[in-house]
Amino acid sequence: MKTRSAKNSGIAQSWKDEQLRYWRETTDHYLKFGTTMQAGIICDEDIEGQSYEDNNRAILKRSGVRDGQVVLDAGCGVGGPGLCAALHFPALEVHGITLSPYQAGIAQKMITESPAAGRVHVQAGDYHKLPFPNRKFDCALFLESAGYSFQLEELFSEMARVLRDDGRVYIKDVFCRAGEMTVQEWKQIAAFRQIYVHHTPTMEVMAAALSATGFTVRSVLDLSSMVINKPREPEFGLPRFRPLPDLPVHWGEIVAIKTAT
Ligand SMILES: C[S@@+](CC[C@H](N)C(=O)[O-])C[C@H]1O[C@@H](n2cnc3c(N)ncnc32)[C@H](O)[C@@H]1O
Repeated sequence: MKTRSAKNSGIAQSWKDEQLRYWRETTDHYLKFGTTMQAGIICDEDIEGQSYEDNNRAILKRSGVRDGQVVLDAGCGVGGPGLCAALHFPALEVHGITLSPYQAGIAQKMITESPAAGRVHVQAGDYHKLPFPNRKFDCALFLESAGYSFQLEELFSEMARVLRDDGRVYIKDVFCRAGEMTVQEWKQIAAFRQIYVHHTPTMEVMAAALSATGFTVRSVLDLSSMVINKPREPEFGLPRFRPLPDLPVHWGEIVAIKTAT
C-alpha cells in the first residue's frame, strides 16, 4: 500500500505535468500580447497609463524593490517583468524561475538581446525547490504565479530559506473569494481551477501559509478596484477556455517580511 507522502508526491507530480502541458499549449498565444503574462493590469494612482509597461512599473513601486538588490522572480514566465525591472534599475540583479522549459528558452533569447543581459537570468525549475543558496535574495516577486502552488507551506519555507533576514515577499494574484458560495459559483471555481491548472486559494489561506513559515504579513489588500482585467483567452481559439461569468474570485496583493532568524 502507498504511504501518504508517496501519494502526495504523486499528486504533486501530476499537477506539475498538467501545468507543463498548459504552458506549452498557451505560451505562444500569450506572447501575442507581450512578454508580461498577467491577466490583470494594476492602475496605481501615481502611474499613468494601462499598458503592461505601466503595470510593471506599478509593481516595482508597490513591491519596494530597490536598485542594487538581488531579486527572485518566482514563476517568471518568459521573463518580461524581470527584464523590465532590470532596465528600470541599472544595478538590479534578477533571477527568474519558471516551471516551463519552453518559457525559459524564450527568456534566454530575450535576455541575450537585452541591454540588461548579464543581470537577468532565467532557468527552468520548480519554485518549491530552488537551485539557490540560503539568503541569496532581498525580495521574491510572485506575479500571478503563487496561486499555482499546490503546496503553499513548502513554497514559503523555501522562500524563507533563500531570502535574507528582513527580505520581502510580494504577491499579486487572483484569489478565490472567502465565505459562502452558491452552487453555480462552486461549479465555476472548480472549472477555473481545472482549465488554468491553478490552485486559486483564498488570500486568508495564502497569508496563513506565510505566517506559518517565518514571515510577518505586512499587508493583505483586495486590489480589485485597481485592476483592469485583460482576458485574452477568447482570442486564442483553444477548446479549453470558456466564459465563467459567476466566478467567485478577486484580485489581491500580499506583502510579507521574513522574520529575522
Ligand atoms: C501567469 S504566468 C505569470 C508569469 C510572469 N510572472 C509574468 O508576470 O509574466 C505564471 C507563471 O508561473 C509559473 N509557475 C507555476 N508553477 C510553478 C512552479 N511550481 N515553479 C516555477 N514556476 C511556476 C509558470 O511556469 C508561469 O511562468
